[in-house]
Amino acid sequence: MSDTIETFLEESRVFEPSAEFKAAANASDPNIYEKAEADPEGWWVSWAETLDWSQKWHTVLEWNQPFAKWFVGGKLNACYNCVDRHVVSGKGDKIALIGEGEPGDVRNFTYSQVKDRVSQIANGLKAIGIGKGDIVAVYMPMGPELAMTMLACARIGAPHTVIFGGFTAESIADRANNCGAKAIVTSDGTWRRGKIVELKRIVDEAMELGCSTVDKVLVFDRVGKPGTMTSGMATPDYNAGTWVDGRDVKAADVCDTASTDCPCEEMDAEDLLFILYTSGSTGKPKGIMHTTGGYLTGTTATTKLVFDMKDEDIYWCTADCGWVTGHSYIVYGPMSNGCTQVMYEGAPDAQGKDRFWKIIEKHKVSILYTAPTAIRTFMKWGEDLPNGCDLSSLRLLGSVGEPINPEAWMWYHRVIGRERCPIVDTWWQTETGGIMVTPLPGIVSTKPGSATRPFPGVGATIYDEDGNDIGADSDGEVGGLLVLKRPWPSMLRGIWGDEDRYRDVYWSKFSDAYFAGDGAKRDADGFFWLLGRVDDIMLVSGHNISTMEVESALVDHPAVAEAAVIGKQHEVKGQAIAAFVIIKQGFEPSDELRQEIRMHVGQKIGPVARPDDLIFTADVPKTRSGKIMRRLLRDIAEGRLLGDTTTLADPNVVASLQAEHDKES
Ligand code: WT7
Repeated sequence: MSDTIETFLEESRVFEPSAEFKAAANASDPNIYEKAEADPEGWWVSWAETLDWSQKWHTVLEWNQPFAKWFVGGKLNACYNCVDRHVVSGKGDKIALIGEGEPGDVRNFTYSQVKDRVSQIANGLKAIGIGKGDIVAVYMPMGPELAMTMLACARIGAPHTVIFGGFTAESIADRANNCGAKAIVTSDGTWRRGKIVELKRIVDEAMELGCSTVDKVLVFDRVGKPGTMTSGMATPDYNAGTWVDGRDVKAADVCDTASTDCPCEEMDAEDLLFILYTSGSTGKPKGIMHTTGGYLTGTTATTKLVFDMKDEDIYWCTADCGWVTGHSYIVYGPMSNGCTQVMYEGAPDAQGKDRFWKIIEKHKVSILYTAPTAIRTFMKWGEDLPNGCDLSSLRLLGSVGEPINPEAWMWYHRVIGRERCPIVDTWWQTETGGIMVTPLPGIVSTKPGSATRPFPGVGATIYDEDGNDIGADSDGEVGGLLVLKRPWPSMLRGIWGDEDRYRDVYWSKFSDAYFAGDGAKRDADGFFWLLGRVDDIMLVSGHNISTMEVESALVDHPAVAEAAVIGKQHEVKGQAIAAFVIIKQGFEPSDELRQEIRMHVGQKIGPVARPDDLIFTADVPKTRSGKIMRRLLRDIAEGRLLGDTTTLADPNVVASLQAEHDKES
């Protein structure tokens, strides 16, 4: 592999925040960057001081690479900071959570009500034998009870490990066994595209596979609860037949009847707050560990400044709590800031493909945080849908999960933001705990497709393969590897039970920096452009080309809705580019169109990036978090048997893809 990644796409449009936005922004002083850079520890201390500690730390940072301890000696409780302190300060009647179910049921909880309900759930957990230090697996629908269960765990010092409600029984068993979970909290079911997914039954299957450390399963009612059904439907008992006495406990029995009083456990700053499993591109999931004080400091600061969170905002992050985005930017960061937010249970096309826009209109959402894959789906569905709704409440838009291609950025800006709303493209990872590279919306002018600058105090830079900082003077022509040069409070503290893997994955590539695994370039203004996972960079005739740049050039063609690109083995070139392309409604696949799209990429990037193969397809295989599974596409393109497909959102996609590929080649 050659030393540098060449980069091709150029984007020169710049968007400044309005004078009005700047004037009112939480961060408006550009010197914030220099100040934080001059004294990063002091900067983070100023944020830690905004939290409520029962005992102050004696040492800000103990750093023995790769092990960090932040706010050493400090004591606090994350739930207290996210809930009780808002009640204490007189905001008890403010709405914390607006839970909209897929069938359309809406349930609001004020901060006082959250405090009572969280305390009841915490007491219920105690009643089934959970105490400080016991790990609780959580497999629940995306709704208020999920957030409140996470907070209840934090309240009593029991680390949670949330497992996304779309995962299989094997995934639950793997994770519960890996961390030694003592209980699983679940619900009878959840709604997804008008159908019930029976979560409790999936937990039963996991228990049958063997979860040796789990002795209790706590079950909330969701789909079987009177009043939560779509009108006219009966309320069946989804647990009938599979109930295991002694193991299974109804939340209705131990939580609903429990006291609304439950003291917050005093936790050490470095006590484990949660473990979250992230699959990475290969291998078994890694249990990423986050602790209490630093994590809460980082998520509180970034929420306030990146989302410009104000008391009167209505915030909506469309992620699921099963992902880190839901931990950091639904539960901990936003609730620590005392915000009002929407949580939505179901699919974006339930009861119509304009469901998101209806939710924004109905709840007057002012800040929306979503993912590029969702934005591209909405582009495919057409602008009439958002245009039919009142989106005037929106004032800020966010993006996370993968590089947002300029085409999608512009659509988001124009159609959803109506050219009024700054866009914050936020780069971070499960491992970083909080946002690391992002605009501050009142300070930084944005460029479509760039995550712009490191958050104040964050030591992000770009190294070449040999660990040299490639500097800002490269003008964006060479890319390299994104690294973080100094510790930050919300950083992972390790991989559960696997110290070697922790060192190996993140700290062995470079001697003096955290290796994020992403390619990046920096332009003459010092702006960062993320180029995708390093594993996703192709080597074509000696040129390193990022799959993301080719995908961006493809979707720039008016007929293309979405594209996935891989490098497939090629005798002469090393790798040849194969593109899987989804076309927009109103276009027909044809050889002419195929040639036209190939030429378009050649014009945008250069002939070397023109795909050899271009396969029209109805869909591409994605994980449930929206990441393209390139490994499977390579299997298809190189004519291999398919590897593991269990983490696919829709397993049917690959079969039809394979048929289309075989037909065309
Ligand atoms: C990987 C982390 C962070 C929460 C959701 C995903 C990619 C994430 C961006 C962005 C370019 C991005 C990176 C990163 N990524 N946000 N704004 N621009 N790439 O968490 O599952 O831990 O994935 O997502 O490749 O390494 P995750």
